[in-house]
Amino acid sequence: MTKMQANLIFNPKGNDNTEQRTIIKWNKTWLFQLNSTKYNWAKSLYQVMIWNFWVPEKVKWLWEDSIQFKKELNEDEQRAYKWILSFLIFLDSIQTVNLPNFSDYITAPEVNLILSIQTYQEAIHSQSYAVILETVVDAIWRDEIYYFWRDDKNLLERNEFIWNIYQRFLDNPNDENFFAWIIWNFLLESIYFYNWFAFFDTLASQSKMVATDRMINYIRRDELTHVTIFANIIKEIKKEFPKIYNKDVIYEMMDTAVKQEIKWSKHILQNKIIGMNDENVEKYTKRLANDRLNLLWLEPLYKDMVSNPYKHLDAMQNNNMEKWNFFESTVTNYSQSSAMNWSWEF
Ligand SMILES: [Fe+2]
Ligand SMILES: [Fe+2]
Repeated sequence: MTKMQANLIFNPKGNDNTEQRTIIKWNKTWLFQLNSTKYNWAKSLYQVMIWNFWVPEKVKWLWEDSIQFKKELNEDEQRAYKWILSFLIFLDSIQTVNLPNFSDYITAPEVNLILSIQTYQEAIHSQSYAVILETVVDAIWRDEIYYFWRDDKNLLERNEFIWNIYQRFLDNPNDENFFAWIIWNFLLESIYFYNWFAFFDTLASQSKMVATDRMINYIRRDELTHVTIFANIIKEIKKEFPKIYNKDVIYEMMDTAVKQEIKWSKHILQNKIIGMNDENVEKYTKRLANDRLNLLWLEPLYKDMVSNPYKHLDAMQNNNMEKWNFFESTVTNYSQSSAMNWSWEF
């Protein structure tokens, strides 16, 4: 397998020609020359991501959730709330730490630019969990939530699985490990969060923990741009490096992610949360997997999965998305807007 080289910091002998540029493995100068770019989807996403700017302080009335947490959530809901936070904290931590490593192998400044914004957003998500732990949940639970993986072997197994795929590339940076690395980023961003977002929406639909759900809505809006970043990178790799692209690997890793998600969801929810029984979790995860494969222009993996059991939560899940329906945009129609500028009006 071909070894990959991390980008230089500056390369006077590099070539910034956009016609010849490729998304990885290009010999650039590493000057951030953003007036001649190749990947217009990155420019569009940059605008969306900047437009989406938010901070956890924007979410008001979080203290009301702390009263509800104690008085209105039953034991199962409290347990699920804490364990779910623990997994989300891990996901955002590893993304914040790892994304700069990933960006070191991407050779288009316009894509490095949005990966920097993504890293910053993942760090903001970590801040929002800290705000929740400060405001909603009793301080005595804080360490248990942060370090739940020390006690729960299921969670440790999941966290280690993600870490191992990322670490394998860092220890042995070759084409095969790189492709697995990208695919796992896509899966983490596109599959792992969503049962948990559905949990907070489910509580909110019963008028419980509404402020937490508002915070989660902001996080989800960011995560959807991250899904789009990785879907676009994967499609560019398919176009530019067909020998690195491997459809079978995508299907195999998707199936692994789906199985892990279902197993962990059942472990957390224990069939005890109203609206989120084992059957719904399985249906939703498989349906989501099919939708995500569709983003990569791939056939569904679970052919009989057509209905979304959380359809009734759609309105809550889409309430921040009205301005930008970028999921329907593809590499092709982004690139048609080649005259797009970096400056625009808010
Ligand atoms: Fe995040
Ligand atoms: Fe993310």
